[in-house]
Amino acid sequence: MKHAMNILGAAALASTILVGMTAQAQDGAQLFVSKACIACHGVEGKQPINDNTPKLAGQNKGYLMTQLQDIKSGARNNGQTAQMKPIVANLSDHDIEAITEYLSLLQ
Ligand code: HEC
Repeated sequence: MKHAMNILGAAALASTILVGMTAQAQDGAQLFVSKACIACHGVEGKQPINDNTPKLAGQNKGYLMTQLQDIKSGARNNGQTAQMKPIVANLSDHDIEAITEYLSLLQ
């Protein structure tokens, strides 16, 4: 229940901050919440749950896209990558494009 409240809160927060963002970035913002990315990376990818989990806000789009594709394909694979693998497996190319656009526009 607490988790659900956090997600609703994050969605509300995201919709206020996103005024002025492209439609694609707004899509990415929704996906970042609905695909539960915030569970580990925090709201807007700013507050990761632990020291092994990266902050994502404001990172370059091209870099983030490459990382997600490499995690999906297995080209990137270290002790922590296993946590991300099942999650990226459910992301389409469109999802990856939208989410990384969104993250790159955050400050
Ligand atoms: C279970 C926790 C967890 C969830 C849920 C999760 N991540 Fe991650 N994510 C991680 C960890 C841990 C890493 C570091 C992986 C590594 O070291 O290779 C990571 C790495 C990444 C990276 C690479 C960043 C960099 O600087 O190289 C991106 C991008 C990313 N996650 C995006 C997402 C997105 C988008 C979602 C939702 C679709 C998501 N993550 C959901 C734990 C998670």
